[in-house]
Amino acid sequence: MSSGTELPEAVENNDGGFDEVILALATPECRQDPYRLYARMRREDPVYRSSQGIWYLTRYADVEAALRDLRLSNDGERMTRALAARQGAPQRFSRLTRRLGRVMTTTDPPDHARLRRLVSKAFTARRVQGLRPRLQAIVDGLLDAAVAAGSTMDLIAALASPLPGTVICELFGIPRGDTERVRAWFHQLRAPNTVQGVERIELMVEQFEGYLTDLIRRRRARPADDILSALVTVAERDDQLTDEELLSTCLMLVTAGDQATTDLIGNGTLALLRHPDQLRRLQRDPTLIRSAVDELVRYDSPSQIIIRVVAEAVEIGGRTLAEGELVHLVLAATNRDPERFPDPDQLDLGRPDNRHLSFGNGPHFCLGAPLARLAGEVAIGTLIRRLPGLRLSTETVQWKPNPMLRGPACLPVAY
Ligand code: HEM
Repeated sequence: MSSGTELPEAVENNDGGFDEVILALATPECRQDPYRLYARMRREDPVYRSSQGIWYLTRYADVEAALRDLRLSNDGERMTRALAARQGAPQRFSRLTRRLGRVMTTTDPPDHARLRRLVSKAFTARRVQGLRPRLQAIVDGLLDAAVAAGSTMDLIAALASPLPGTVICELFGIPRGDTERVRAWFHQLRAPNTVQGVERIELMVEQFEGYLTDLIRRRRARPADDILSALVTVAERDDQLTDEELLSTCLMLVTAGDQATTDLIGNGTLALLRHPDQLRRLQRDPTLIRSAVDELVRYDSPSQIIIRVVAEAVEIGGRTLAEGELVHLVLAATNRDPERFPDPDQLDLGRPDNRHLSFGNGPHFCLGAPLARLAGEVAIGTLIRRLPGLRLSTETVQWKPNPMLRGPACLPVAY
C-alpha cells in the first residue's frame, strides 16, 4: 500500500493543502490515539465532506461496499489529476510516482485483472509458505544480535524495520552478497517528502532499476527458484508483461508492504504489551497466534486511510460524491465500528468472525496479506516465546507523523 507517500513533513508545515481532518489526525493527541476522532466522525457524520472537498467514509458497511464499487477508481492518472487539483497541493511528483502510475495498485479493471493475474501466478501460496523457515532464521538472527547487545532494545530498529526488506530480498532471490546494498536502497524509500527526500528516492529508484535490469537479464538466462524468475517466465510465456511493467511491478512489490509490515509488527507488539492479560493468553496458548495477528491488525491497523477518486457519481449515505472528487476510506475507523464488531475497542485475540478491512477488500485486496500475516506470526510469536518477560520501557510512544500509515517511530522495550 502506497497511498501515504507524500504526507509527513508537509503535514507538519501545512504546505500541502491538507484539510482539517488530516491536520487533526497529525496532532500529538491524535497520533497517540486517533480512534476517538474516528468514533466521533462515524457517529456524527459518517459520510463527511472536508473543507478541501475530500470525502471521509468511516462506517464499515459503506467502506466495505466502496472497496468493491468500480465507480470509485484507483486509476493513477485520474488520481494524480485529482491530487494536483487540491488547493495548495505540492507538485513533487517523483520518478517513483511515475513508475508506480501503471501497476496493479493504480489501475482499474479490466487492466487491473490482467496485471494481478500475472503477478499472482508468481506470488503463490506455496512460495510464501516456503519462506517460513527462512523467515524464522532471519527473526532468530535479528533477536540474537539484539539480546547479545544488552537487556533493552528499540524493537523497531532491531526487528520490525529490517525484517520486511530482508524478506523481500529473499522473495526476489537477491544474492546474499548484495542484500545489504539493496536493503539500503529500500530504506531510502522511507525518506520524507522534502526536496532532499524526493531526491534520495529518485536516486534509489534509478540505482535499483539498474540493478534489477541486470538481475532480470541473469534470471532470463538461468532461472532460479524465486519470484523474479517466476515473473520473467510469466512475462515471456504469456507475452503480456512488458519489460517496463516487470520493473514497475518489482518496485511496487517492494513499496507495497515494506513500511506496513514494520508497522504491523510494531503496532501488534505494542498492543500486546499494553494488554498483559491477552499477552499471557497467547503465551499460554501459542496456537492462537494466527487469529491473534488478525486481531492485532484489526485493533490498530498499519493502513489507516486509503484513497479513491470518483470516476462516476455515486450516492453513499444519502450524499452524492461527484466525479473527480477524492475519497478517503478510513479503514481503521471501520475496524472499530460497533455495528460490525461487538466491543470493538476490546482486544480479543480469539475474536470470531474477524473480517476487518486492514488489508482492503474487493479487487485490490492485499496480494501480500499471506506474507504479511506469516511475517507477523513468526516475528511476534518468536518475540514473546524467546523473551517472556518483555515489557515496555516508555509510557509515551513516539508515533510516525503520517496519519495514513500508522506505526511507532521507535519502541523501547526491556526483557
Ligand atoms: C508482505 C508485505 C506486503 C506486500 C508484498 C503487499 C502487497 C500488496 C499489493 C501488491 C497490493 C495491491 C493489490 C491490488 O492492487 O490488486 C496491496 C494492497 C493492499 N495492501 Fe498490501 N502488501 C503487504 C503488506 C501489507 C500490510 C502489512 C498491510 C496492512 C495491514 C497491507 C495493506 C494493504 C491494503 C489496505 C491494500 C489495498 C489498497 C487499496 O485497495 O487501494 N499490505 N498489497
